Amino acid sequence: MSWFYRHCLRPLLFSQPSEPIHDRTLKALGVAANSQILSRLIGQVCKAPVLPIERFGLAFPNPVGLAAGMDKQAAALPVWERLGFGFCELGGVTWHPQPGNPAPRMFRAVADRALINRMGFNNPGAEAMAGRLRHWRAVGRWPRHPVGINLGKSKVTPLAGAADDYAQSFRALRSLADFFVVNVSSPNTPNLRQLQDKSALDDILRALQEINGQAGGGEARPILVKVAPDLSWDALDEILELTGPRNVAGIVATNTTLARPEATDAALRAIYQETGGLSGRPLRERSTAVVRHLYRQSRGRLPIIGVGGIFTGGDAWEKITAGACLVQVYTGPVYEGPILARQVVRTLKQKLTERGLGSIAQAVGIEN
Ligand SMILES: Cc1cc2nc3c(=O)[nH]c(=O)nc-3n(C[C@H](O)[C@H](O)[C@H](O)COP(=O)(O)O)c2cc1C
Repeated sequence: MSWFYRHCLRPLLFSQPSEPIHDRTLKALGVAANSQILSRLIGQVCKAPVLPIERFGLAFPNPVGLAAGMDKQAAALPVWERLGFGFCELGGVTWHPQPGNPAPRMFRAVADRALINRMGFNNPGAEAMAGRLRHWRAVGRWPRHPVGINLGKSKVTPLAGAADDYAQSFRALRSLADFFVVNVSSPNTPNLRQLQDKSALDDILRALQEINGQAGGGEARPILVKVAPDLSWDALDEILELTGPRNVAGIVATNTTLARPEATDAALRAIYQETGGLSGRPLRERSTAVVRHLYRQSRGRLPIIGVGGIFTGGDAWEKITAGACLVQVYTGPVYEGPILARQVVRTLKQKLTERGLGSIAQAVGIEN
């Protein structure tokens, strides 16, 4: 399958611009999501072995998740577990619906196995997302794995109103998902990254935890924070200082980077001049370094979801042994195809056997 994808399907898909292909793929997966037969068929080809882990009160059938940004509207929610994922993070979603930045806004740097995007949180808004999630529950297609939602700030909301903007989305969605990720690290909404500043982030987390404690929305939901790979160690440490007082369930490390690798040819150089966040292979090392730092500074007590440049089971193992208990992928499946999650889980299982370890939990941070 991965040979077929790499040599037949990918050249066909990559002959067209990336956003229309992404949209068409999501549409096709949405069709499959609505069909028992198609979903089952996908499951037969792509199903991953069980490799369970429990974190922040949730049971994950395997540690490999779909990263935020792929399914911004919950268009294909039931399909992700069929593709072998152990959890998914939907969104980023904002309180106000918004079209995002003008196209083109997603670019492939094929030679480096990377993407650059400046989507700018194109999404239908939190209430439309809530409607979509209710639909999947109503038709009995809710997945068995945990479902997270990535929350962003609406572009029209000034930074001073950010806490309220996040809170509105959280209020609308709290009862409909298993965990939430506060995204203050996207490079594509003007000044959003300033919200990683300790006092601004504290305001947002306080507002969310106030809602989390209120009756009527079911149990309190785990709230995580997603960080940029471009933060200094000191800035990361300041975020860690908030995790105790604000009951943060974990950190997602990392979002895309503003940094660019050295380009080896003119085509790459042209792509790397595009504004936006870089994901994929060139991000791998830095995001692992951030995972390692966070694990060390939190003495292994804080769950970390490692994301950035995972293309193989070996890459996932690197993140886990550096300190991540869960991992996510976005760019990997774009280049490697739909059975990536299954392949990664299989390799992780092999690695555990080779090391004589009984579970993923035992591998977390062993190389730190
Ligand atoms: C097109 C695109 C859109 C993305 N949208 C979001 C988003 O809405 N929220 C978010 O937190 N991260 C978003 N991301 C970042 C990914 O979730 C992930 O953190 C990053 O791509 C690094 O992982 P990767 O190297 O496996 O792609 C997006 C990434 C891409 C490529």
